[in-house]
Amino acid sequence: MKILVLNGPNLNLLGEREPAVYGDNSLETINAELAKKAADMGYDIEFFQSNGEGTIIDSLHTARLDCAGVILNAGAYTHYSYAIRDAIAAIKIPVIEVHLSNVDSREEFRKTSVIAPVCKGSISGFGKYSYVLALSALDYCFGEK
Ligand code: DQA
Repeated sequence: MKILVLNGPNLNLLGEREPAVYGDNSLETINAELAKKAADMGYDIEFFQSNGEGTIIDSLHTARLDCAGVILNAGAYTHYSYAIRDAIAAIKIPVIEVHLSNVDSREEFRKTSVIAPVCKGSISGFGKYSYVLALSALDYCFGEK
């Protein structure tokens, strides 16, 4: 079973981008840790990052054909992209919404997630462990069936 970890805009700059908010780890470091966990759990895992809304949508469309679930940090698109929301709603595999920071404790605009209603669930505020928790959440979803 394959899982896609999909990261959106500005997450390629993790480690140098606002470290007080997002931590010191690069996306590569986070992904490497996640790859180990996934292997321990018996999953294939694939990583993709894009700063573009359309590319993220294309990636969700492709995932529906060959992945069992998606871990998605849509970055700022979370708060206003109806197009990404519709893409998630269009595919049948579970998508877990992830944020490193606690979006509900920050600026007002971050308190709205237009993707949350069409995701299986959301994890926010645990730094890089948000992704690890999302992996366990997907494992739980697969066991539900
Ligand atoms: C983020 C939170 C978003 O509000 C922000 O735009 C990001 C990162 C997070 O992981 O905490 O780019 O998704």
